[in-house]
Amino acid sequence: MKYPFHTLERRSFIQQLGGTAAAGLLGAPLAKGAKVSAAKPAADSAPPRFGDGRDWFLEKRFGMFVHWGLYSILGWHEQHQWRGRVPRREYVKLADRWNPIRFDPDQWLDLLQEAGMKYLTVTTKHHDGFCLFDSKLTKFTTVNTPYGKDLIGMLADACHKRRIPLCLYYSIADWNHPNYPNQGRHHELPKPEEGDKPDWNAYLEFLRGQVRELCTNYGKIHGFWWDMNVPEHADPSINRMIRELQPDAVINDRGFDKGDFGTPERDYKTDDARAFSTRVEACQAVGSESWGFRKDEDYYTVGHLERSITRYLARGANYLLNVGPQPDGAIDPRSSAILREIGRWMKSVGESYGDALPATRLSRNPNVMLTRRGNTLYVHLHTVPMTDSVKLKPFTTLPRRAVLLNSNSELGLSTDLCPSDHQSRIGYLRVRGIPADSLTNSVGVVRLEFDDLDAALGRSAAKGNEDGNLIR
Ligand code: GLC
Repeated sequence: MKYPFHTLERRSFIQQLGGTAAAGLLGAPLAKGAKVSAAKPAADSAPPRFGDGRDWFLEKRFGMFVHWGLYSILGWHEQHQWRGRVPRREYVKLADRWNPIRFDPDQWLDLLQEAGMKYLTVTTKHHDGFCLFDSKLTKFTTVNTPYGKDLIGMLADACHKRRIPLCLYYSIADWNHPNYPNQGRHHELPKPEEGDKPDWNAYLEFLRGQVRELCTNYGKIHGFWWDMNVPEHADPSINRMIRELQPDAVINDRGFDKGDFGTPERDYKTDDARAFSTRVEACQAVGSESWGFRKDEDYYTVGHLERSITRYLARGANYLLNVGPQPDGAIDPRSSAILREIGRWMKSVGESYGDALPATRLSRNPNVMLTRRGNTLYVHLHTVPMTDSVKLKPFTTLPRRAVLLNSNSELGLSTDLCPSDHQSRIGYLRVRGIPADSLTNSVGVVRLEFDDLDAALGRSAAKGNEDGNLIR
């Protein structure tokens, strides 16, 4: 499913990159003989900062998403009640079986940290209406189960101890509350169930009350993650309340107004290499079918996930990777293994994200994405490598050193003329000796250390002009 989020129009993107020079680098048509202004590369860009306590979001970048609830007992999908056509009166009986005796928030957070993740976003109430927190406004909570505890409270304590930002997911659509007007729209039950009294305003009253509980009972909250606003109901007063209660909380765009950031889901538009000019947090699960625990889930390969992560982080977005814990509270071995593998990768290549800025526009090679910090350029091999080298048109200057971060090993460099460039006579920068066969299920990242990257870019552009081969 696609969610609205802002992608840049090509025109405004080129403007943002700084006009003609950028247009040339992007491959936009230039009149024959037109001069590319060589000396001044366009400014790097990143989504705007908030300038307040919400800036944590632009620093942490990579988080863990958790979908957990009664549905995990059935082990099929987080929307089992709806997709499995289960009547509410049957579904709610699962609450009598909720007893996650292996739940240990510290184990989740250990895994989160091992995976290189920096914050947690967890479902407090999914579409089924079951609350993982102690709400005074409904009985349908973990407190009224054999387990009897407030799971969000336990998680919040553990997060606060480790100073890990905690964000709360909350579904607006509700398949349990008698006032929610279920009428077969997007992710709604086809019609109200017996005894329901659909009343949107009464439901909103309940929702406001729960949001207030979540924003007052658990100490500092770093984010509020709305889902499934059906109908698209605008009401800025709700986010305003969150902001008053939790000023450092970032709010997503699936609620009652546009919020602070967009939420593309499951590799939406990953074929687009342009940097984001707005704040974005992509989300994806380790399994391809479900966000909640699924017994025989079809898991993504680590390579697919690393490519997906790269295609967002290298463009300035955040990334949430989801796991669905088992009904006993433990995270299944397969998901844990995937996260650990990603953590090992993140540990070696992580310096290429963080505060490094998106810079893919500097090269015309569609198989790489670039990020940049000062005179260091990071080359992300975000497609399965086809050769053991990478040519970085239009660069013509050798950096001091090239290091493959995955193995911390130095790579070869050359600007010798390649046969395929015989017409332009330009020897482009090539990074050589990449162990491509060992990177087919991962994303290689090469660190290029330049003495003066801006000067190198200027020289490359000038060289293109001299040879009448405009940089395009
Ligand atoms: C999809 C799923 C929903 C899940 C959400 C997470 O919209 O339908 O169940 O919570 O993704 O982004």
